[in-house]
Amino acid sequence: MVSPLRWRDGTLEILDQTRLPAEEVWIRCSTPDEVADAIRRLAVRGAPAIGIAAAYGLALAEPSASGIERAADLLGSTRPTAVNLRWALERGRRAFESAGADALLPLAERIAEEQREADSRIAVHGAALFGQRERVLTHCNTGALATGGRGTALGTIEAAWEAGRVELVWVDETRPLLQGARLTTYELGAVSIPYRLVADSSAGVLMTRGLVDRVIVGADRIAANGDVANKIGTYPLAVLARRHDIPFCVAAPLSTVDLASPDGDAIELEQRDPAEITRFGSAQVAPADAEAVNWAFDVTPHDLVTAIVTEAGVLEAPYDRSIADVLSTSQSAA
Ligand code: MRU
Repeated sequence: MVSPLRWRDGTLEILDQTRLPAEEVWIRCSTPDEVADAIRRLAVRGAPAIGIAAAYGLALAEPSASGIERAADLLGSTRPTAVNLRWALERGRRAFESAGADALLPLAERIAEEQREADSRIAVHGAALFGQRERVLTHCNTGALATGGRGTALGTIEAAWEAGRVELVWVDETRPLLQGARLTTYELGAVSIPYRLVADSSAGVLMTRGLVDRVIVGADRIAANGDVANKIGTYPLAVLARRHDIPFCVAAPLSTVDLASPDGDAIELEQRDPAEITRFGSAQVAPADAEAVNWAFDVTPHDLVTAIVTEAGVLEAPYDRSIADVLSTSQSAA
């Protein structure tokens, strides 16, 4: 299993995902500023991995109240949609207040370990949803690179494949930064799961030809009512899945649920540099003066979601109730 992060000799090393799959380059970060830069430019990405990187970033801050506050503000400003980032930094702030700076590295390690455990449980719960030899479509990258564990949606697919429940994975390329084409193919290939890479706009033809049995994706934030923010292009998949009566499932840890967002309208959706879509790799494809808008995420309304797979089990509609119930149970167990 590839790991997106490792702690070595007092520094955080980040596997630069912008260079994958061509080369495995590790970036050494010894300040929160370097970690923030790596998160901002997607060297490390995927909501859980961003949260873990930020927790380690806080452990690299100057060990004073103002140093921690400055680092938390900086790291928290890098990517607005993934709520795991804010969640991890909030835990860091509380740990510093109650136990000082020495508590920050153990906390980052604990968050990473909790994610590995959550991923394992998500995989078991999610795999049980699959029938026999399904053809499953996924979007973006939700594997080990995105979480540091087994992955969320991709971990579920892998567990289902091991149980003979997956025949083939359709991998959306995931424009504009190609997390599907570069990273999901890399991870599926490493464990020899059969896949076919397709252009993002292929879902319609695949579904009309009866070639998709299930869609499963991850999430960057799930609102209290079950609306799901995820990589741009997820919502159209959910609309198509409903039209073709195909289950549309979301797999995410409970740390991705944000009760402070009552619904999807309350979720800030990241917009990134338009150059990411006017260029393709190093080539300028649009006219140099082309105006572009680069939304990085969209929101899938809860009524299009068949199930949300979490470490605590599979949630179903009505999501406002199932989410509130699972969170109150997991908080009282903690
Ligand atoms: O922009 P990215 O690559 O960070 O977007 C990642 C996604 O959209 C994932 O689906 C989500 O973070 C879940 S990762 C387990």
